[in-house]
Amino acid sequence: MSDSSLPTPGANFSLKEEIRSYWSGRAATFDQQVGHAIKSDAELAAFQSLLRQSFGAEPREVLDLACGTGEITRALLSLGHKVTGIDFSEEMLARARTKHGDKARILAGDAERLLDDDETYDALVTRHLVWTLTDPEAAFAEWFRVLRPGGKLLVIDGDWINRSWLQGLLNRAATFLRERAGAAPQAADREAFDSITSRFFFRDGLSAERLSGMLRQAGFARVESADYAQVVKAQQRHATLHDALRLASSTRFALLATKN
Ligand SMILES: C[S@@+](CC[C@H](N)C(=O)[O-])C[C@H]1O[C@@H](n2cnc3c(N)ncnc32)[C@H](O)[C@@H]1O
Repeated sequence: MSDSSLPTPGANFSLKEEIRSYWSGRAATFDQQVGHAIKSDAELAAFQSLLRQSFGAEPREVLDLACGTGEITRALLSLGHKVTGIDFSEEMLARARTKHGDKARILAGDAERLLDDDETYDALVTRHLVWTLTDPEAAFAEWFRVLRPGGKLLVIDGDWINRSWLQGLLNRAATFLRERAGAAPQAADREAFDSITSRFFFRDGLSAERLSGMLRQAGFARVESADYAQVVKAQQRHATLHDALRLASSTRFALLATKN
């Protein structure tokens, strides 16, 4: 894979540039926000359990798509996997490289247009990327292409747009308690955030059901849900009250897709 830092020209190029710039602006504080950095041994153990359940116990060749500051890469490395992480934000990548040095291959690249050969990886994992994709059909076709036969794709994501009545209440309580504690708002630059999210493919929200259908359409033979609740519970155990409420205020899920 070549190390090209810019989104590749093509459809949605300028939206991708805005998305890249938005995440680059959040890189410095990303790990401080709830649900991002792995904060406790219990959380690391929960991630290890999810990854073992998904990919098996043997070390594999794994691609962390949109690796950000390298937290999922950290969990993969802790299990002995050979890890490649890609992301299109240099600011995010710099943090991942500082954390992992040469233990992982951390490259700049566009997760929607991979430069790897066909059937390069045993497994792919991606957290909190899918909801922001500009062309998910193209991305899923690419992910399917670079997986070896029998390979696994683990998608960890959520619906950050729609909330049930209860989730709305929890979210408002989290914001109230956070402000009372004098903490900075979770998402910086609200205007840029609203502007890009209104143009995401999944601007009306991402559901596990819809994603399942799209992954099957992309060729994955089996798509099943994976137990992400174990991770969220571990995150909540070491969180402040407002962060624990925030974690409960959105639908979070993981799907495991298998290529025949
Ligand atoms: C919410 S962060 C998640 C980071 C990391 N996966 C995690 O869970 O800690 C989203 C990341 O996706 C990256 N990203 C978004 N679209 C991308 C694309 N098309 N190609 C590569 N990276 C992308 C951003 O730069 C950012 O680092």
